[in-house]
Amino acid sequence: MSAGAGAPAGLRDLARARGLDLGAAVAPAPLREEPEYAACLAREFSLATTENALKMEPLRPEPGRWSFAGADTIVDFAAAHDMKVRGHTLVWHQQVPEWVSKAPASELEPILSAHIETVAGRYRGRIAIWDVVNEAVTDDGSPRDTLWLRGLGPDYLATAFRRAHQADAGARLFYNDYGAEGLNPKSEAVYHLLRDLLDAAVPVHGVGLQMHVPVQGHPRPDDVAANMARLAGLGLEIHITEMDVRLPLPVTEEALAAQARVYGDLLQVCLDCPACTALIQWGVSDRHSWVPHFFEGTGAALILDEAYRPKPAYRALVRILGKATR
Ligand code: XIL
Repeated sequence: MSAGAGAPAGLRDLARARGLDLGAAVAPAPLREEPEYAACLAREFSLATTENALKMEPLRPEPGRWSFAGADTIVDFAAAHDMKVRGHTLVWHQQVPEWVSKAPASELEPILSAHIETVAGRYRGRIAIWDVVNEAVTDDGSPRDTLWLRGLGPDYLATAFRRAHQADAGARLFYNDYGAEGLNPKSEAVYHLLRDLLDAAVPVHGVGLQMHVPVQGHPRPDDVAANMARLAGLGLEIHITEMDVRLPLPVTEEALAAQARVYGDLLQVCLDCPACTALIQWGVSDRHSWVPHFFEGTGAALILDEAYRPKPAYRALVRILGKATR
């Protein structure tokens, strides 16, 4: 579907008029195989995050073998459709190939440095934004005990950001985490971590708030606003990077309405914070969402349904973008 005369504008145009990128996590298989997936992605979104394709395990299944085809599909599609790409993610403790998780600790520094250099270097100028480090803090605010911390010591975050900057000096480099959206010990720790990195002149430019939330029990919008304000005060850019609002199954009209309010309230928080420049949902539609696989008994967490039809949450975003002042 092309955006020719008379075609309804997608969300991306409404969002861009407000200085906001609307994004989705993208998988290469449906992008290649489902015309509707590709059409919907190009119409509604101005940013694509690589959902799994650039994680170390799918990218490097064996030593010496690189599997860039999936990421290339996403990056090429984005370039052809005037979309930005968020590369996800250079350093994470999950989806690590066995040959890396079993490597002696002394080999981890060279493995990680070469990884960052190769991946960020390969996509220099094509992937504008990187989640450099993902989920390095635990819920109580302590450093997460991972192979990277054990192998490289606490400086591994600074090292990773410096390597990424060396590989692509033009890329925007983010720290990304979940459960640190509102005000709690974890978001406090993330704030201090980022402040310390900036004090040490480490090239970190932004923070990703994942926002995988249940429709009941999501962070309070006022708390997210306060957290964003303090992060913005550090000079950081802010993205809502992985939003989904999961519903108990089967879905009811009431639940869809409540979900729409959560999406709307959090979009409003982002629009009210000048540093918040992107809202990304974790999947293109309910047809390709990780939620039903990971949170048993829940689903329908995105703004488009399994047939790519707009849900009440989509209409809430349209309404709020339409009356936004920024
Ligand atoms: C998820 C993917 O969506 C799944 O397909 C995969 O099986 C597991 O990872 N936080 C992150 C993402 O940073 O990388 C995760 O993505 C979801 C939670």
